[in-house]
Amino acid sequence: MRRLVFCGLTFAMFAGAADLAGTWQNEQQGRGGQINVTTCVFKVDGNRITGTYATTQRAFDIENGAVDGATFTFQTSDGFQTPPRVIEYKGTLNGDQFELTTVMPAGAPARAGRGPQGPRTFKRISADVVFHPGPELTRTHQPFPPFQPIVPNGFAKTPPMGWNSWNKFAERVDDKSVREMADAIVSSGMRDAGYIYVNIDDTWEGKRDKDGNITSNQKFPDMKALADYVHSKGLKIGIYSSPGRKTCAGFEASYGHEQQDANTWAAWGFDYLKYDWCSATAVYRPDEMKSAYQKMANALRATGRPFIYSLCQYGLLSVGEWGAAAGGNLWRTTGDISDNWRSMSSIGFDQQTGREVYAGPGHWNDPDMLEIGNGGMTTTEYRTHMSLWSMLAAPLLAGHDVRTMPDFTRDILLNAEVIAIDQDPAGIQGTRVRKDGPDGATLEVWKRPLAKGVAVGLFNRGPENAQMTVKWSEVGVTSANPKVRDLWAHRDIANAATEYTVNVPSHGVVMLRVE
Ligand code: GLA
Repeated sequence: MRRLVFCGLTFAMFAGAADLAGTWQNEQQGRGGQINVTTCVFKVDGNRITGTYATTQRAFDIENGAVDGATFTFQTSDGFQTPPRVIEYKGTLNGDQFELTTVMPAGAPARAGRGPQGPRTFKRISADVVFHPGPELTRTHQPFPPFQPIVPNGFAKTPPMGWNSWNKFAERVDDKSVREMADAIVSSGMRDAGYIYVNIDDTWEGKRDKDGNITSNQKFPDMKALADYVHSKGLKIGIYSSPGRKTCAGFEASYGHEQQDANTWAAWGFDYLKYDWCSATAVYRPDEMKSAYQKMANALRATGRPFIYSLCQYGLLSVGEWGAAAGGNLWRTTGDISDNWRSMSSIGFDQQTGREVYAGPGHWNDPDMLEIGNGGMTTTEYRTHMSLWSMLAAPLLAGHDVRTMPDFTRDILLNAEVIAIDQDPAGIQGTRVRKDGPDGATLEVWKRPLAKGVAVGLFNRGPENAQMTVKWSEVGVTSANPKVRDLWAHRDIANAATEYTVNVPSHGVVMLRVE
């Protein structure tokens, strides 16, 4: 009897291992009604599983795969994250189908749809043990030569300033709204305050014509005429694409058409490109990312037209270390900002630390566009947003409806004394000097060395108003009895020879220039 059970188990192990080999699929309806297909291709060698785990966006090599009777485990590793993010899978085989459970790594963000996944049922579709990528995942580019830094293009000596359509309009942006925004940027005084770039974000794209040239969709009947109009206002105009096949919003992107697209944008008269990684993960490996960005930098330069080049890949793979060498004038450092205190303060205060070494004239960290005027924060919080971005030497790309800008928004975005900090010619990104306070380190003192003097930010992230003191010696002010200017109150401060004490409102800021 004992012997029989033993034989039976051995047989089950063997049968389980052999049965797993092949191609399996799971189909699930996505939130947009689309069908998301996940494919597992398993090759089994003894107890070892190798092969591919693929979604419609991305194919992963199976790592550490092992089968034990009817159960099996494997891992995938996302090399775009630093350190690589490992996800574990556990499966149970049952005839011509298996149940697969995903175990998300500890500390993974609990975003909707990203939590631990319940079991998914995969059905065998063939005995094929070789993965055949669909058109979305097929790589068609030549291998890149070894990466070599390219010389700076010489633009963006101070952080770019302007407006971008995404935060307010997303897919509703069209020709009319861009023209009206250009008008309002002039009439509101934004242009004269330095907000020069009018940037169209995602969703302008149409199909390619028979020669492969990108066209705009019906929302944008004539891109050249639009660019001419924006230029006629003394402004410049920006456009958006992705190194992948599709943009983040699912529109046609530049993979395999890099030079052709750069030529088209140059012929239309564009001056700025935001190049957003998105689906490029499907066609490039992590070690190819910087070359994929540089490819577009070279394509833009080959047009002979001056372009500001904005990298948008959410700070992956320590972009600060190579963003400038890839030809970027700015690079996003984080995921997308939202119009609320939590998002803005987390990005601005917590997620920029250590990146200051990469910023300087011509190449800037980009903590994402401004939400000022979009309604999700208080005036005090928006003032903090503007102050913090200026301390960070961040690009100032407004993202609100300029046509209906109330005075309290205008007073924030057009504060020339704060803009002057952002645009300081020395181009040194500011840093936190210390944080302390009653409520778990909510009072932050920041400094930014300027061409002349030092900018000081006293930020109160706590729920109560608080008194804060800064000593000039701790922010690098060397002059005796310096001139002190409050940049929001627009007044000089007397009697602050060695230090200054002031009340700072909850979620607010006192911003100083000390010379
Ligand atoms: C990404 C970017 C955003 C915006 C959208 C457009 O999420 O990070 O800034 O460009 O894509 O689809």
